[in-house]
Amino acid sequence: MSQSYLFHDAAEAQEYARLLALAACADPLTLARMARIGLAKGWRVLEIGPGAGTLLAPLAEQVGESGAVDAIERDVRYLRDFTPEPIRIIAQDALQWSPPADDPGYDLIHLRYVLIHQADGAALAQRCAQWLKPGGWLLLEEPDFTQCRAIDAPAPVAHHINRVHDAICALFESKGLDPAFGQRLPNLLRALTPDSLVVENHAPIVPGGAPQAEVMALSADHLSAAYAATGYCNLENVEEYRHALRNPRLWTLPLPTVAAWGRRN
Ligand SMILES: C[S@@+](CC[C@H](N)C(=O)[O-])C[C@H]1O[C@@H](n2cnc3c(N)ncnc32)[C@H](O)[C@@H]1O
Repeated sequence: MSQSYLFHDAAEAQEYARLLALAACADPLTLARMARIGLAKGWRVLEIGPGAGTLLAPLAEQVGESGAVDAIERDVRYLRDFTPEPIRIIAQDALQWSPPADDPGYDLIHLRYVLIHQADGAALAQRCAQWLKPGGWLLLEEPDFTQCRAIDAPAPVAHHINRVHDAICALFESKGLDPAFGQRLPNLLRALTPDSLVVENHAPIVPGGAPQAEVMALSADHLSAAYAATGYCNLENVEEYRHALRNPRLWTLPLPTVAAWGRRN
């Protein structure tokens, strides 16, 4: 597995819990966006980096037996149960994959929290755009960690939280990754799929214990030492940050996500 992926060495159960938490806060919005796009029976859908695979069954139900749901994932530990048609799991790095020469193309390709983990996320998005049918849709949903912040917290608590936010950005940068990848989606899609372009910024302010806060707390459970190693925070800051994300009396903006979708001409 790629060493640039920040969770490549996470224990199976711990990473599965984190992926399920991520899906719990993101799936409803993603499925609503797919409905707005017009996902329908007979569509061919490609899901890249499905993680825990929670979108695969709803997608399969919506495209029906006449459709197809292909999923490319390089870590298929959590996808063992997803074998029945129309779902097809492709255990590969999406950067190494190409569709067969006679492939008719996809009606919808979706990536969520995947491009931010690529050394060249724009290049992967460009490849995806080539795999669309004419008129096919590319839906991208990626975080912008530069928007994270403490909200109306006492100064010492805000200090801990914001030190860790700086460390998260520094950690991505130290791996050659862009912590603000979500900000790149509008221009990326304007170049790739300019027809019917929609851009949204989802930046909920939530109390500790809310799903978005829990995702970031679970990430911090695994990445505490890596955050501290950036030099932007120390282990005490991370400990206080984890407590804050699980304290229902404290508010944060923990997981801002930019979504953008457009149609290939
Ligand atoms: C942060 S998780 C997001 C999972 C899921 N998309 C979601 O939003 O719930 C990123 C997932 O993408 C997978 N991934 C990252 N880069 C990939 C690549 N180049 N090819 C295939 N899978 C990749 C990882 O293994 C991981 O399962």
